[in-house]
Amino acid sequence: MGVGAGALALGTTFAEFMAACASGTTGGKNQLEIFSWWTAGGEADGLAEMFKIYKQQYASVEIVNAAVAGGAGSNAKAVLATRMQGGKPPDSFQVHAGQELISTWVKADKMEPITSIWNSEGWDSTIPKDLKTIVSSGSDVWSVPVNIHRGNALWLASGADSVAPNTVDTLDDFLSSLGKAKAGGMKAPLALGSKGNWQVTMLLENNIVAAGGADFYRGLFNGSSSWNDNNIKVALNYIKSMLNYVNSDHPTIDWDQAAGRLTAKSSVATIMGDWAKGYFTANNQKPDTDFTGVPSPGTAKTYMIVCDTFGLPKNAPDRANAINWIKVCGSEAGQAAFNPKKGSIPARTDVPASIFDSIAQRFIGEFKTAALTPSIAHGSAAPEAFASGVNDEMGQFVQKKDVNASASNLAKLADQFLK
Ligand code: GAL
Repeated sequence: MGVGAGALALGTTFAEFMAACASGTTGGKNQLEIFSWWTAGGEADGLAEMFKIYKQQYASVEIVNAAVAGGAGSNAKAVLATRMQGGKPPDSFQVHAGQELISTWVKADKMEPITSIWNSEGWDSTIPKDLKTIVSSGSDVWSVPVNIHRGNALWLASGADSVAPNTVDTLDDFLSSLGKAKAGGMKAPLALGSKGNWQVTMLLENNIVAAGGADFYRGLFNGSSSWNDNNIKVALNYIKSMLNYVNSDHPTIDWDQAAGRLTAKSSVATIMGDWAKGYFTANNQKPDTDFTGVPSPGTAKTYMIVCDTFGLPKNAPDRANAINWIKVCGSEAGQAAFNPKKGSIPARTDVPASIFDSIAQRFIGEFKTAALTPSIAHGSAAPEAFASGVNDEMGQFVQKKDVNASASNLAKLADQFLK
């Protein structure tokens, strides 16, 4: 509940009162505005769970959920940019670990470091060093990871023998399974929602790993592999073949509607990050009973990292409340509440695996030994300008299906933004 001017709500603790004084919110509304793009089934539920944990500790704070719909932040990022540039930041916002924050709002001097929160919460002993490195620059930490999503995941509706987990190990196996399903009368066995194009960028990054391996993929961002390599064309050719099996309305629907085609039984497979698992479970689908999840074809033993984090903008209107939010995001209770619904695995290493479904338990196990690859589509591999250029190119590719033209345009983008 919000509180009136000059008042604090009944039940306010001394600590809350001091926090409110420090942030100057005692004279206005005692709010916490959280900005994200989590509006779909699963992701919205995960966020709501974290809000509950926050409310348990700070009952008098009114949480304002400022989520903007559109997968991968396809609409939210522009809204956030307008607000940040206009000096009207939310109290905290969802942002991918790495370049998406560091080369934008950190560089523009619009963020406060969270280094002192990180240290006082002791996150060095509970959040892996590699994740800390991704959210750091200079000697500071800029955001706290809440999860790790797997971008290279294939979701299969159960009951379709032609497209079962043992028929999808390689991209060739997968295509031949889709062929059988189509021959059996299913028009669009592979569900795709490509509104915003980022979903096709995910197909590209997964297929590059399948074609060239994790080292080749990682080398594309440190200069040890070339975007002119034939592996890029191989990856594009596999997307082109996949397009023979997808729903024709894919440019008009998003990832969650594509996932819905599996529950409606009009498709049997979809390649999407494990937020799709959150969608399925939010729609009462039982993991490993109604559906299952495996690494996307050809990418076993690798993990395409998509890591959601929250940071602290300069001049956050409710700064003290925002600091407490960041603490909840990094806490065991927050991550234990959030991740099972969100579909991700926790960023912290001490959240018990036993609270997760069987697919997440497998992913937690696989994560420990997998070769980690940062996602282009979800902000960690490369600067935003490169990612959005790749998205546009993939939008062209699904229309024209011109492998040579897209391969050469991708190499040009790499020359422009990765050197
Ligand atoms: C990603 C984000 C995920 C999920 C997905 C679909 O960018 O990291 O948490 O929300 O978009 O919206």
